[in-house]
Amino acid sequence: MKLLKTILDVRNIVADGKRRGLTIGLVPTMGNLHQGHLELALKCRATVDILVASIFVNPMQFGENEDLDAYPRTLQADQKLLSDAGVDFLFAPANAEMYPENKSMQTSVEVSGLSTLHCGASRPGHFRGVATVVAKLFGIVSPDIAAFGKKDYQQIAVIRQMINDLSMSVNLLEVETVRSSKGLALSSRNGYLTEAENLIAPGLRTALLDAKSCIENGHTDFAELSRHHTKDLANRGFIPEYFVVCNRQTLLPAAATDDCLVILTAAKLGRARLIDNIEVF
Ligand code: PAF
Repeated sequence: MKLLKTILDVRNIVADGKRRGLTIGLVPTMGNLHQGHLELALKCRATVDILVASIFVNPMQFGENEDLDAYPRTLQADQKLLSDAGVDFLFAPANAEMYPENKSMQTSVEVSGLSTLHCGASRPGHFRGVATVVAKLFGIVSPDIAAFGKKDYQQIAVIRQMINDLSMSVNLLEVETVRSSKGLALSSRNGYLTEAENLIAPGLRTALLDAKSCIENGHTDFAELSRHHTKDLANRGFIPEYFVVCNRQTLLPAAATDDCLVILTAAKLGRARLIDNIEVF
């Protein structure tokens, strides 16, 4: 696997591949990789000729009081993992390569409706940062396919909407969430959990499974279900942010008649902010 630091280097590699009629896959990450990221690489590897991964801790998607500085940077270990997963090129640019200081950016990508819901409500500007950096990565790598994990359900919805709205020629590869043996969705932020919190954390998944089973058994008062499980999460030791039964297409709170649902949740546990989701029907 070759490490690329500049946009120009990536463009040259991609142009050469495209000249030879090869397909390009992209796995965008912020590093500190775990099995969930590697699953993205493995799934994407199986569908393309040239596989590019990126590692960039994107300052634009972090709020002022969030963990940008604390976010773990583990480039050496990540390189080995990506290489073993069959990645051909790793694009790991410096901040100045993505956001040159002498050319202040005047453009951002805002997926206006979806970005204000759920995680967007508690993290204003977050999805603008995500959509903008993903659009930049698409512009740099020109991938045929880009892989994202379904743990970040709302992020995928935002990116899907951006691709459609801006007529981007990228196919989304949506990859199932990888979980610990106890059911906790793998996330770089799980590293913030203490030993005691690690025992509590799988409770987020338990609450989702329980709510799913209530709905499958005919429960249609989704507001009541949300209240019940929010209280349940608080009793388990979380500080719940939201627990909402949503229409899977719009991510708006579901009506009792909707038939494709997803339950989205976010909760704080100590220093970690955990998110998870489960599809119903
Ligand atoms: O999911 C992530 O790791 C990030 O939001 C992404 C998609 C790499 C954009 O910075």
